[in-house]
Amino acid sequence: MTTKINLLAVSLFLPVFIFAQNVIPEPAQYRPVKGEFILTIAENKALETNNVLPARVIQRIAPDCTVGSDEAYRLEITPDSVFIQSTTVTGAFRGEETLKQLLRSGKGTTSACVINDAPRYSWRGFMLDESRHFFGKEKVKQLLDIMASLRLNVFHWHLTDEPGWRIEIKKYPLLTKVGSKGNYHDPSAPAAFYTQEDIKDIVAYAAARHIMIVPEFDMPGHATAACRAYPELSGGGEGRWKDFTFHPCKEETFRFISDVLDELITLFPSPYIHIGGDEVHFGNQEWFTDPQIQQFIKDKQLMNETGLEQYFVRRVADIIAAKGKTMIGWDEIVDAGVSPDKAVVMWWRHDRRYQLLKALESGYRVIMTPRRPMYGDFVQYSTHNVGRYWDGYNPIEDVFSFPRSIEHLFKGYESQIMGMQYSLWTERVADVKRFDFMVFPRLVAAAEAAWTPAVRKDYSRFMRRLPFFLHWLDTKNIYYFDPFAPERRPEPTAPEKEDVLQNG
Ligand code: ACM
Repeated sequence: MTTKINLLAVSLFLPVFIFAQNVIPEPAQYRPVKGEFILTIAENKALETNNVLPARVIQRIAPDCTVGSDEAYRLEITPDSVFIQSTTVTGAFRGEETLKQLLRSGKGTTSACVINDAPRYSWRGFMLDESRHFFGKEKVKQLLDIMASLRLNVFHWHLTDEPGWRIEIKKYPLLTKVGSKGNYHDPSAPAAFYTQEDIKDIVAYAAARHIMIVPEFDMPGHATAACRAYPELSGGGEGRWKDFTFHPCKEETFRFISDVLDELITLFPSPYIHIGGDEVHFGNQEWFTDPQIQQFIKDKQLMNETGLEQYFVRRVADIIAAKGKTMIGWDEIVDAGVSPDKAVVMWWRHDRRYQLLKALESGYRVIMTPRRPMYGDFVQYSTHNVGRYWDGYNPIEDVFSFPRSIEHLFKGYESQIMGMQYSLWTERVADVKRFDFMVFPRLVAAAEAAWTPAVRKDYSRFMRRLPFFLHWLDTKNIYYFDPFAPERRPEPTAPEKEDVLQNG
């Protein structure tokens, strides 16, 4: 009896959360009120076919709104009308997307409610590697539509790497004429790249959805396609890693980089440019023997070849800063000694937690996309055979739970954590079917992980809501992995035999 009373007393004082129906990500606050808002048949048709909301949705964008800043919004649904308030157009857009989810899942009807919402993180990203395999404009636009619905706000676009260079640069036409031929599986695949007109179109499409596109121009490693086009820029590399690096000390290299950056900056309004900076040691063998490079190391009093790599990164950081932009680099750049005012670090090496700590202690802002669990090329289910493993794989539950397992690492540094990102490398993703399978629904889980306050995250409730989002993906013919019936949708194959990659 006493226990019962005590339990009752405790439960009275526990915070009682009420959760939204069929909204992903789960909003920060949700309060149901009496009644329903019902679209007319014509209004519902306009929403279904053209994604258009009715005139009864009233927006108020004003700096004096009490809803916070940036992407925060207040959504008030009454039986007659809907009010969306925000201090910014972006916040109002996020509110609209929430409303559209409610109306779509209710087939034109939604319960009246009040939602006060704001994101946990300001960087909620998705990275797509289109160097290994190229998917094209229509797939990217579809992805941006889905990202907008999930209130994701950054598309990190990996456009240059070993197999192909995927963006037209007017000053260096061979980048696309030569460098865009081939892909990870087929070096003779026809040229595939985005023209500058394509890029403008996609950047505008993303901007209309309040999504920032951050291009990645990977250097000094992963530069093979560029070096194939302009061999004089190559810094060598052996065997499989031939021409993997840019020449690290020719003035010509830095002139080329600066020119390419000028065109990227004209095309992408983002304040950030990603310069890669990862895995240089894979293909810098010639740096150890080339007399010009060795002399340069001596002249500049650099420690060794690693010191030269760090010199390169510092120099590129300065070039980017001089152009008024901020550099983002993979977590190797933490060791280069770039000023934290000039660079943001993307932490990817999940097995090097100290690199995350070092970045934070050095004062960098950090975006988290550790291989485990945030890389989409890892296997997602126990019976799957295609993809990466590294002491395990990346099930949807782990993506959803992130960053809970590492929160203790950044305690005291929360203000430096910009956010998180789901990243898709495409060595084993050669077609749209496999693309969909590796992205969905883990990207849906990543969106909730990045947006929803930690105290409101609950995996079983997320899984109860997920079907409504999967139904919407069905209307887009997306071949997602179905966590409710894993055997029903077979795992698409990849075009090579050694499919499972361990610890790689
Ligand atoms: C990376 O996965 N090489 C950043």
